[in-house]
Amino acid sequence: MQFPEYRPRRLRKNDLWRKLIRETILNINDLICPVFAVPGKNVKNPISAMPGVFQESIDVLVKEVKNLESLGIPAIILFGIPETKNETATGAFIKDGIVQRAVRRIKETCPNILVITDVCLCEYTSHGHCGIIEKGDVDNDTTLEILAETALSHAKAGADMVAPSAMMDGQVGAIREALDEGGFETIPIMAYSAKYASCFYGPFREAAKSAPQFGNRKTYQMDPANSDEAIREITLDVGEGADIIMIKPALAYLDIIRRTKEEFDLPVAAYNVSGEFSMIKAAAEKGWIDGTQAMMESLTSIKRAGADMIITYFAREAALELQKKS
Ligand code: PBG
Repeated sequence: MQFPEYRPRRLRKNDLWRKLIRETILNINDLICPVFAVPGKNVKNPISAMPGVFQESIDVLVKEVKNLESLGIPAIILFGIPETKNETATGAFIKDGIVQRAVRRIKETCPNILVITDVCLCEYTSHGHCGIIEKGDVDNDTTLEILAETALSHAKAGADMVAPSAMMDGQVGAIREALDEGGFETIPIMAYSAKYASCFYGPFREAAKSAPQFGNRKTYQMDPANSDEAIREITLDVGEGADIIMIKPALAYLDIIRRTKEEFDLPVAAYNVSGEFSMIKAAAEKGWIDGTQAMMESLTSIKRAGADMIITYFAREAALELQKKS
């Protein structure tokens, strides 16, 4: 292929040509919308760094999920902010915890959307770490038991899938075992397999009130400089029974998404995290970029990299945009 025989511009002449040649088509079916449940009634707290995203009491949340369902968004991922936090994260697994109650209500009222639950302890521990602290550090194996109990309690409440995000070694296996023993062998696990210790989670920690009170998450989340290590993490999770592999964040880790898609034969999810959302919102607010185009371009890039599904705070906006186009 050589110029002047080959002229790539021939196939870009107008929108019809571009449609015909287009390789990656973003679809509403690819989108998963994160939502935040808080205790109370009639609560809708805006999250300052995430315009259009709210913490909502269950009554308000149900209406929002109904709306997402009507747009054809196939799934939500649910986070909970409990009334009280403690050292042992009790709020994460009690029968009437915030997530358990929210799942039950949503499943009763919104039959046409899947409810995925985030399984982690950082919203429930007083210190904000993703596990139980022993001798000044997060103790892996003690945490596994609580994560397994939490996942089981979500399944009992009716969750369609659980998504462990604590980055404890062995968490997928521990949860698989607990689900199977509890009679939930048909509930899949979406594993946050390659979750990096990223500054792009900043706005989420305001939303979930989950910032660590001391230290950081670098002893359990991955070093952003590593790619081979992601492959080792994913290999472990696949061996322990992961059904879907997740890479998080998405935009700064498109190479990891691509490698995962090429090296593993499982569906790949990417988490377009809070900071990635907020950057676009902030720049658009200032008039520095076109927010809608930046949203569509970045979501398309995540899909092009190899993601089969995208968890994104843009889900509603992107769905509306996609409806307009079709
Ligand atoms: C819980 C969890 C986090 C996110 C998803 N699950 C926060 C963290 O690890 O600090 C981040 C999501 C986002 O930034 O949008 N561990």
